[in-house]
Amino acid sequence: MLRELPQIEDPNLLVGTNTADDAAVYQITDDLALVQTVDYITPVVDDPYSFGAIAVANSISDIYAMGGKPLIALNIVGFPNNTLPLAILTQILKGGAEKAKEAQVTIVGGHTINDPEPKYGLAVTGLINPKEVVTNAGAKVGDLLILTKPLGIGIITTAIKKDEVAGEVVDKAVYVMTSLNRAASEAMLQIGVNACTDITGFGLLGHLHEMTVGSGVGAEIYLDKVPVIEETWDLVKKGIAPGGTHANRNFLADSVNWHRKITLEEELVLCDAQTSGGLLISVPANKADQLLALLKKKKTPAAAIIGRIIEDKEGKINVLA
Ligand code: CO
Ligand code: CO
Ligand code: CO
Repeated sequence: MLRELPQIEDPNLLVGTNTADDAAVYQITDDLALVQTVDYITPVVDDPYSFGAIAVANSISDIYAMGGKPLIALNIVGFPNNTLPLAILTQILKGGAEKAKEAQVTIVGGHTINDPEPKYGLAVTGLINPKEVVTNAGAKVGDLLILTKPLGIGIITTAIKKDEVAGEVVDKAVYVMTSLNRAASEAMLQIGVNACTDITGFGLLGHLHEMTVGSGVGAEIYLDKVPVIEETWDLVKKGIAPGGTHANRNFLADSVNWHRKITLEEELVLCDAQTSGGLLISVPANKADQLLALLKKKKTPAAAIIGRIIEDKEGKINVLA
């Protein structure tokens, strides 16, 4: 769709819309660039304060995925002024503001429109050294793939909407979604990695597909090594999965080789559309243990080697049982 738009000819734009990367990078001086992104979502949990915090963690994540330091942000809000009490909006913005504060991001303004369905997110501006940008297109054959949050968020939040989950499961999902990817980003910058992206709407395999297409490589994933929020399995076995998760699986049909032992439910979990998911990091094999140890020390919600980059048709993913 973007191909229909005028070509971008600004030489200062280091990362733009030509690749499917997480955020734009715009060079200011030799060692300073702006990194910029925008994201907003509809409610994924009932509690407005938690929704605000999730939306903010989700919006800032694209800056962390590039290895940037988020600085300032603008609120983007849709709210049904006539049908919902404004106290709910106050709670959404409070959850967002406190999460932004934790990330040391200053919310400097914003804009609200009347909207039948609530929406919230941020336009975020950060800083990055142009020489230290981590794109999703640098993965190299032999790299190991590390994931920093468990999967299952899309399936669990769909179950929440159907009232099919206990309070503890909601708490677990909120904890995962509100965890900032800052610690994981700092760890990867300290160790030095080849590529990174964050896992959101396209699911683990959708975002890995973008990374492998951008990098001109293939990948293999070890199903039994992928961290998943445990309760996800019961829910997906009951037939619960969001439309986006099914769409991801269909979209990837020609790109993924599934081992014959893998079930439909397992395929759906690996394609599950996440909100505020973890970082997927492609790290040289000889640095993987170091990165894993640092992620564990920083207590990221998960830290697991889940696969590796291989020589294959670009974008091809082999999932092993
Ligand atoms: Co992203
Ligand atoms: Co985004
Ligand atoms: Co305005």
